[in-house]
Parts: sequence; C-alpha cells; structure tokens
Amino acid sequence: MKFIKVDTYNELSREAALVIASQLKSKPDSVLGLATGSSPVGTYRELIKMYENGELDFSSARSVNLDEYVGLSPEDTQSYAFFMRTNLFDHVNIKKENTNIPNGIAEDLDAECRRYDKLVLELGGVDLQLLGIGTDGHIGFNEPDSVFSKLTHTVRLAQSTIDSNARFFESADKVPTTAITVGMMTIMQARSVLLVANGPSKRDILNKALNGPITPEIPASILQLHPHVTVIYSEN
Ligand code: F6R
Repeated sequence: MKFIKVDTYNELSREAALVIASQLKSKPDSVLGLATGSSPVGTYRELIKMYENGELDFSSARSVNLDEYVGLSPEDTQSYAFFMRTNLFDHVNIKKENTNIPNGIAEDLDAECRRYDKLVLELGGVDLQLLGIGTDGHIGFNEPDSVFSKLTHTVRLAQSTIDSNARFFESADKVPTTAITVGMMTIMQARSVLLVANGPSKRDILNKALNGPITPEIPASILQLHPHVTVIYSEN
C-alpha cells in the first residue's frame, strides 16, 4: 500500500488526478471505477483542466460508478448520475454510452444488481477504482456489517451516512435510506485502487481501516488485502 500525505485538498486533488491520467495514458480504453461525494470533486476538476489543456483524452475510456440512491432518477439533481454529469462527464469527451451507473429507479432492484455485476464482468473488470471513505469506514455504500458483501446489492444506509450526506439535501429526512452499491468483489478485483480522503473527520477511520484488524465492521479494512492500493490523505 502506498500512503501519500499532503497538506491541502488542492494537492490531494492534483495527485489523484495524476494517478488517473497516468492510467488513461497507459491504457486509453481503461475501465475507471468512479465515486461521488465531496472527496473526488477536486480530482474531477483537475481531470477536466487536463482535458481542456489537451493533455488527456477520454474518448475510449469506460466508467462504472460505485453506487446510486434507490428512488432517485438520473434527472434528479441529488442523484449520483446527475452528480457525475455535472462534475465530470459533461466537461470531458467521454462517450455517454460508455458511462455506467446503477439504476436507482429500476423496477426490479435485484435484477438491476445482477445486470450491474454482469456488466462489470463483460467490461473485463475495473482497471482503476477511485474511492472515498465514509466516517464509519464504508467504501461504495458497503456499510459496516457482520460479513463483507461480495456482489452488487441494495443496502440500508447507516444513520451516520444519512447524517453526513444530509448536507447535500434540504434536510436529513430527504436523504434516501437505501442505495445500490457494488460489492467488495468489484472493488477488490480492480487492478488498482486509489482512495482519497481529506479533513480531520477522516483521520481516525482511515487509521483504523489501514492499520487495524481486517473486519466487515470497518469495510475499508479489506483494502489491506489488495496488492495495489494508493491512499492520498490531506489534513485539510
Ligand atoms: C460515493 C461513495 C461513498 C463516499 C463516502 C465519502 O460514491 O461511494 O463511499 O465516497 O461516503 O463521502 P465524502 O467524500 O462526501 O466524504
């Protein structure tokens, strides 16, 4: 595991974007596993800058996002589909048909989960998986549990996740209580993993996840078993 500590969020974002850019340059049709939330926003901003400067080409890239809220359509401004369009996809030359996000309004959510796992398999798996980490140690929306969930599944969000994501909604009661998330198999089979975390609220959980026992009660701890993980942490 490579651990990079930087001082500022801007440095974190730049470092993370460089890792993704290098992946795309070495394999232009890379399958990028992408995350939402506040941590990767700066990374996406840096990637957009690189694209605008002619340094990066997304025309052959494919993407699979980690998760989506159940009940939110892709047009909903709180959906992760909307987040990805506004924070990255609309600003670079990735082909929309090459981007994938679980469908939170699928009639049959179990079938949607199976479709998503099949899709990841058909794409040949993820080359580089970008992750944030929740204050309870979740990755994707794999919440603390008694087992590591292998496959894409629907999950009831932990109260702490709902509370921290309430900042994006009018109020906590507007945050969906369930989501679809890829399981640990998609994440652990990614050829490399890049985890970004910033701010003091992530320090303790990051320490537990990276240095403590490997347990599904701290889902990110499973990353200790992955052979190619880079963690970038900024104090601020
Ligand atoms: C988002 C995701 C989540 C977030 C995590 C941290 O797609 O999978 O695991 O990465 O909740 O969120 P932020 O970055 O907002 O602190």
